Amino acid sequence: MSDHLTVVDHPLVQHKLTIMRKKETSTSEFRQLLREISQLLAYEVTRELPMTTRSIETPMQEMDAPALAGPKLALVSILRAGNGLLDGMLELIPSARVGFVGLYRDEETLKPVQYYFKVPTQIDKRLVIAVDPMLATGNSSVAAIDMLKEAGAKDIRFLCLLAAPEGVARMKEAHPDVPIVTAALDERLNEKGYIVPGLGDAGDRMFGTK
Ligand code: URA
Repeated sequence: MSDHLTVVDHPLVQHKLTIMRKKETSTSEFRQLLREISQLLAYEVTRELPMTTRSIETPMQEMDAPALAGPKLALVSILRAGNGLLDGMLELIPSARVGFVGLYRDEETLKPVQYYFKVPTQIDKRLVIAVDPMLATGNSSVAAIDMLKEAGAKDIRFLCLLAAPEGVARMKEAHPDVPIVTAALDERLNEKGYIVPGLGDAGDRMFGTK
């Protein structure tokens, strides 16, 4: 994957995202749509996975058939909202290994605070896809990628649902080697660090909290 930012403008992704943005969309609908979109985004972010061939036998004859190569990829959820993307992706890629980065955003400073970090073994050999629905200031995403690199990850992609230009710029500056895949690039951040027009707090909307 070469471009730093890929916006997945597939009609199904855009339609589902519109419903997710609406303030009257219920928690259960929001969660279901996120699950569905995450699978469409997973399709895009895994487009260039390394391939090999495997010798198999169909009922007709033997053939060398395409198959995924290399160690299983690692999905890393940036808690807690990342879990909404993770669930759908795991349905599509059930053999993926899974890691978690626990960060919360200090609402005053908007800076990330770490409370948990656990990633699969051999992280240096795996393609790592870090997932978080909202790329807002970029502070947590940059911090999460910092931690993944410190743990040895070398080939990382970042998957989100919505990105703000500020977050994309921050990621590009800190981690130009990490391509970003998103469903939409929104206008800007507001004074509280929320994406506008956005969809509100992704974690609250998917879990029904306030
Ligand atoms: N996190 C969210 O959940 N929403 C935003 O708009 C920004 C950060």
